[in-house]
Amino acid sequence: WMPAAALATAANHNVKQISVIGAGLMGAGIAQVAAHQAAVRVQLVDTSQAHLQKGESIILASLKRIFKKKSADAADAARQTDEVMARITLSTSTEQSAASSDVLVEAIVENLEAKRRLFRQLDAAAPAHAIFASNTSSLPIADIAAAVSATRRAQFAGLHFFNPVPQMKLVEVIRIGETQPQVFETLLALTKAMGKVPVSCKDTPGFIVNRLLVPYMFEALRLVERGDATKEDVDTAMKLGAGYPMGPFELMDYVGLDTTKFINDGWYQSGKGLQGSKLTEPSPLLDQLVADGKFGRKSGEGFYAYGGVGASTKK
Ligand code: 3HC
Repeated sequence: WMPAAALATAANHNVKQISVIGAGLMGAGIAQVAAHQAAVRVQLVDTSQAHLQKGESIILASLKRIFKKKSADAADAARQTDEVMARITLSTSTEQSAASSDVLVEAIVENLEAKRRLFRQLDAAAPAHAIFASNTSSLPIADIAAAVSATRRAQFAGLHFFNPVPQMKLVEVIRIGETQPQVFETLLALTKAMGKVPVSCKDTPGFIVNRLLVPYMFEALRLVERGDATKEDVDTAMKLGAGYPMGPFELMDYVGLDTTKFINDGWYQSGKGLQGSKLTEPSPLLDQLVADGKFGRKSGEGFYAYGGVGASTKK
């Protein structure tokens, strides 16, 4: 059984070029699926060449992994990789990139002021028809959209991808009160063209996935803090007893302990319906690891130690 959203063919989205602002793990992944699956031109934008090169290397590594499996012939795999890479342009000029794009996807640091500053800049530079989307995982879309003009707000939405973007089939498409139906439809068609299954949800903290996933992670933390079970047993239990591909501690290491803490603490401080809630109470265990610089896989250690910074798989 497949949801209707998955079965529908990618309708004509009329998108020729997208700008992805932020060349981190998420931005690189979004740029990759846009250039590869949806075959649109992509401008990947960041503040420095070093950030852009890091993003490019994330895309290259992932494409190589994908095409190596698909093609027995190394030259053919390299050709396919080149074909996708040819659709991606790296840029340090936000304005220049915005001026020629139909859809602008923001995937920068999870900070409301930084996002608002960026969107204000984009609003001034982008063509009138351009759609604005934020990949925020925890901030209200309406609060970010408040930075742009009223006409642009009608073309504003949330477009939330999951890590690792090339592998995770879901995208949450979030409408705000002002979002025009046509804009929403275009984003649905674009995400389908990217090979994803879109779901929609109101502009509520965490949308669907993180609203369920983050409290689940914090319940796992509390279970271990109380000494009810070890983290290893919790991870094994959720993998073998609930069919999750990773246990909650492995997943926190994968997502980043700093990110997990940031999302939860933000809600505890000011999340609509979650402020001061037992559900979002901070975890001393998590706080300590973050204070020690143990952020998970990306720093080489979190709940578990990894063989080298950024090692891809804990076995
Ligand atoms: N690019 C391309 N291919 C990739 C990839 C990438 N970045 N990462 C993994 N793969 C491929 C592998 O090549 C492999 O392909 P194959 O099965 O055809 O050989 C397949 O994915 C499985 O990878 P691995 O064998 O390395 O390892 P796993 O079987 O453990 O799968 C996983 C890895 C897909 C990450 C899986 O463990 C998983 O689904 N984990 C849960 C991830 C999750 O829940 N993500 C959501 C986090 S929440 C979030 O992102 C929201 C944010 O706002 C915080």
